Amino acid sequence: MFFVGRSVTGRTSRLSEVVDVSPYFQLIYCSRRPTSSDEIGAADVRDILAVAREDNARDDITGALLVDADCFAQLLEGPADKVEALFERIRLDPRHQDVVVLCRQTVVERVFPDWSMGYASPVESDEIDRTARVFANAFYAPGPAAAAEVRELIVSAVAQVQLW
Ligand SMILES: Cc1cc2nc3c(=O)[nH]c(=O)nc-3n(C[C@H](O)[C@H](O)[C@H](O)COP(=O)(O)O)c2cc1C
Repeated sequence: MFFVGRSVTGRTSRLSEVVDVSPYFQLIYCSRRPTSSDEIGAADVRDILAVAREDNARDDITGALLVDADCFAQLLEGPADKVEALFERIRLDPRHQDVVVLCRQTVVERVFPDWSMGYASPVESDEIDRTARVFANAFYAPGPAAAAEVRELIVSAVAQVQLW
């Protein structure tokens, strides 16, 4: 079971009910957590999520953050200018490194319409292994296939809704 977080709205995502003809912009990236002594810990992830949930709600951005011991992957979606402006801030954030974009695309519906920033982190060993494999592949061969794999992993992780 993945450890997951909820959105500020407190509603779970109902993917099958979402029909929206407005074009949105979606960006997926992965990055590495620092390995130095000032390594980002659980408290820092909480700080990131607190800011993300407030700022993303303001900017009509939704998405989810996947975190394992070594890496981040994040799916951001919303108005293109807002998503790109946010990504520019994230890209320069010293709390991670080796930021690699996996996809930038226009989509007709959001994957996480009710999540200002969902959160998932693998807990069980099979999930930890799968997540590590997906991250390794994403860094080795970034592109649409890796983006699809990361997207699927994030969706399946936060769909196992055990809210906190
Ligand atoms: C892995 C990671 C994910 C982040 N995700 C978001 C996010 O979704 N929304 C957000 O506002 N900030 C996010 N941040 C924090 C931003 O990098 C930045 O610190 C924040 O937007 C405040 O920027 P400002 O001080 O320039 O206003 C994230 C940071 C990291 C390291």
